[in-house]
Amino acid sequence: MNILEIKNLRTSFQTKQGKVYAADNVSVDIPRGKITALVGESGCGKSVTAMSVLRLIQKPGKVECGTVALTLEDLEKIELMKLDDEAMRKIRGNKIAMIFQEPMTSLNPVYTVGDQIIEAITLHQGLGFSAARDKAIEMLTRVGIPNAKERVDNYPHEMSGGMRQRVMIAMGLSCHPSLLIADEPTTALDVTIQAQILELINKLVQETGMSVLLITHDLGVVASYAQKVVVMYAGQIVEEADTMTLFKEPKHPYTKGLLASIPSMTGKKEARLNAIPGVVPRLTNLPKGCRFQDRCERKTEACLGPIDITREGDHLFRCVNPH
Ligand SMILES: Nc1ncnc2c1ncn2[C@@H]1O[C@H](COP(=O)(O)OP(=O)(O)O)[C@@H](O)[C@H]1O
Ligand SMILES: [Mg+2]
Repeated sequence: MNILEIKNLRTSFQTKQGKVYAADNVSVDIPRGKITALVGESGCGKSVTAMSVLRLIQKPGKVECGTVALTLEDLEKIELMKLDDEAMRKIRGNKIAMIFQEPMTSLNPVYTVGDQIIEAITLHQGLGFSAARDKAIEMLTRVGIPNAKERVDNYPHEMSGGMRQRVMIAMGLSCHPSLLIADEPTTALDVTIQAQILELINKLVQETGMSVLLITHDLGVVASYAQKVVVMYAGQIVEEADTMTLFKEPKHPYTKGLLASIPSMTGKKEARLNAIPGVVPRLTNLPKGCRFQDRCERKTEACLGPIDITREGDHLFRCVNPH
């Protein structure tokens, strides 16, 4: 059962060099009650995909086509691309929470962080003030804010950047979203806090059946928390599988390269970071056929033609010379 089904999503940006498709025919199913990871090098279109789903793409960007179906607990299917702006606003923050590395809606400087979380809780959960305040303190504690009882009355400027980020996470999670879209939520935080927040997200998945789309470039995080992995490269999905399969039997040479670049996965302590040579092609200058061909050791004539997605059960890959 999928909570979200993204089909043939195409998001373009008008640039000086012409139009580019940052998400190019992206189709992803996000299963309910699980953590799905979206991975790939910087600039491959992960954030654009998330922002397109949330209908937050701004000019010069545009969602050209595609459908995004949200199926809530009552099994009502909502086509997000067809909602009016008001209905979409209600979905965001209510049914779908989002947390970003750089919070777009930063905290309001004239209210305490507590007031802002309490407002979110009362709005979405209909709790009274005192219950909402307790809940706010609980959530601040759970995201690793020390002395939450006192910190709840701080103004944003009285907190460090890392703490403000945790407040944003607490606010997103306190609304009991059905789906959480987390775009590199912990990248800027230190390792201990990072682990604590991922544990919290994981716990909410177990306890409440929340579904998660976790965007990350950290394959260690993927291995520890995600049940499903989707790999993007230059605007396209190049591989998708359950986590175990993807780590054990990656088909796409790009995925294989990504996995080889994590030292801890090789089991050797002194393993050298084996980064994939070469660079991601510019979206304005994509090669015909496979977009990874210039960096690929397995390249043949066939890679120059159109590449279809191969399906082996739930394992998908866009490669004609798979491993
Ligand atoms: N505001 C913008 N204007 C023009 N191009 C953009 C803009 N935002 C994103 N892009 C294009 O979309 C691509 C994917 O960006 P993004 O989704 O942010 O990558 P990431 O996978 O690192 O999250 C970028 O490489 C860039 O070409
Ligand atoms: Mg990004």
